[in-house]
Amino acid sequence: MSAAVTVEVGLGERAYDILIGPGLLGRAGVEIGKRLPGTRTAIVTDQNVAAAHLDTLTESLAASGVTPAVITLPPGEKTKSFDALQEVVDGVLAAKLERGDAVIALGGGVIGDLAGFAAGIVRRGMNFVQLPTSLLAQVDSSVGGKTGINSPRGKNLVGVFHQPKLVLADTAVLDTLPLREFRAGYAEVAKYGLIDRPRFFDWLENNWQDIFAGGPARIEAIAEACRAKADVVARDEFETGDRALLNLGHTFGHALEAATRYDSARLVHGEGVAIGMALAHRFSSRLNLASPDDAARVEAHLKAVGLPWRMADIPGELPNAEALLGFIAQDKKVQRGALTFILTRGIGQSFIAKDVPTSEVLSFLKENHPA
Ligand code: GLY
Repeated sequence: MSAAVTVEVGLGERAYDILIGPGLLGRAGVEIGKRLPGTRTAIVTDQNVAAAHLDTLTESLAASGVTPAVITLPPGEKTKSFDALQEVVDGVLAAKLERGDAVIALGGGVIGDLAGFAAGIVRRGMNFVQLPTSLLAQVDSSVGGKTGINSPRGKNLVGVFHQPKLVLADTAVLDTLPLREFRAGYAEVAKYGLIDRPRFFDWLENNWQDIFAGGPARIEAIAEACRAKADVVARDEFETGDRALLNLGHTFGHALEAATRYDSARLVHGEGVAIGMALAHRFSSRLNLASPDDAARVEAHLKAVGLPWRMADIPGELPNAEALLGFIAQDKKVQRGALTFILTRGIGQSFIAKDVPTSEVLSFLKENHPA
């Protein structure tokens, strides 16, 4: 018996299930065995996650007759590097795994992206299974097949699309997640409501306390977020169109992450996305695309859950508006003085705007800059 909810990512021959519920790490051996019978495995994880969850996973695999190789790396964004990739590739090859065997990612977004990239390139593409242990990884990075590492020239610049065969989102592991990290993941949950599911956003406004407390709404919120992402990925796997909507809040957010030099004491990715979503709504209202009431509603919700929602919420000084625009222009290609943004006509009505004048962005940044 399993209380898990199943969401299918409909990609034809490469379709796969996302299972969401408590205790799935302990069922990993059975669930992987059903889909990839007889496969051998290498687990890629980090030291913190290994201390908390590796035994549960290896015992579950052992009960299904599988003895995995284990590759344990230091925690943190620095692990999304060429050096760590080489270590994973070497560990998988040293374990003599074949193309039909599986790399298992046990961890958050860093481990999922790195292990997925290794699985995508070793022997020209091995089986891959995601066991995401952070809320952000469960609702975003483990779903949809984006994998990769950072280059010294920027984040996520080197990678491949490589879909997993299975995602097991064990919601019980979230009970021990630090509140700040849970909140940061929640920003990506709220994002799906703001993109195109206004009723989901209403529901989040009414149920967020239960989600944070670990009640039944938590599983439903993760499942709905995964359904939303699965829909977009099934429509546009390789981001030639609609998948860019998943970047709502990310243009301002990435610029703020770069402006704070990726210092997680000041700002983590999900917090950047939260401020970015609030700014995207406020900017849309300034451009007379959306009502200021919608921007205020987004800001109020982010504030209620304890997320930062304006630039002034970032500790320490920020570079000036011109410098922030510079970070945005570096992240995105400027074409004839215009930028591509995800803007909105209201809650759940976001769209891709390809012709946003940089002059409008600069004025907006000046108006909203805390200095
Ligand atoms: N995280 C955005 C995407 O998967 O496309």
